Amino acid sequence: MKITVTKDYDDMSKAAAEIIISQLKKKPDSVLGLATGTSPLGLYKLLIEAYKKGEISFAQAQTVNLDEYVGLKPSHSQSYAYFMHTNLFDHVDILPQNVHIPQGFAENLSAECASYSKLLGRLKPDIQLLGIGSNGHIGFNEPNSAFSGTTHLVNLTESTVKDNSRLFDDISQVPRQAITMGIAEIMSAKSILLLANGTKKAQAILKTVKGEISESCPASILQRHPNCNLVIDEAAAALL
Ligand code: GLP
Repeated sequence: MKITVTKDYDDMSKAAAEIIISQLKKKPDSVLGLATGTSPLGLYKLLIEAYKKGEISFAQAQTVNLDEYVGLKPSHSQSYAYFMHTNLFDHVDILPQNVHIPQGFAENLSAECASYSKLLGRLKPDIQLLGIGSNGHIGFNEPNSAFSGTTHLVNLTESTVKDNSRLFDDISQVPRQAITMGIAEIMSAKSILLLANGTKKAQAILKTVKGEISESCPASILQRHPNCNLVIDEAAAALL
């Protein structure tokens, strides 16, 4: 595990942007595994700037997103599809057919999981971007998810529903289920880039880096990934 500690969120975003920008320059047809949440927002802004300056193009890139809430259409302002479009895809030259996000509104959710898993067998991310939940979840792989898991339907824990309710008008509106890429699929990415900032993430980062590798902290499996970069701010690194 390579750990880069930055002064603050802005520097974390800059360090992460450098990694993705150099990946796209080196391999314009990269497969980028993408994440939602507040952690990668600054990074996405910098990628848009780099695209507008002509430094990078997404025209040949493919993207696979980690997860999506069940029951929300892509037009719903809290869906992860909406997040990705408003915060990145609508501002760069990615081709719509190269964007892949699990469909949380699919009628047959188990068929959707199977088909997403099949897609991930074909599109292995060159870089998989991750945030981390305060309980150590990655994607929506909550504590005690199997390390061998592939794309599946999950029931969200109360702590995740509570954490994520900050983005909804009311906690009752937070979906209780999601589709997530499984841990085995995350681990099959060629490299991992995990971002974390703020004291709320310090405990999860401590367990990720120094804790026992255990399904009780899903992110702890990253200790076994041969090419894992953690880019975290001082507050998130405070307990290391
Ligand atoms: C959600 C997402 C995760 C994300 C996490 C942290 O639960 N499913 O992929 O990493 O939130 O979000 P934030 O970056 O806003 O702290």
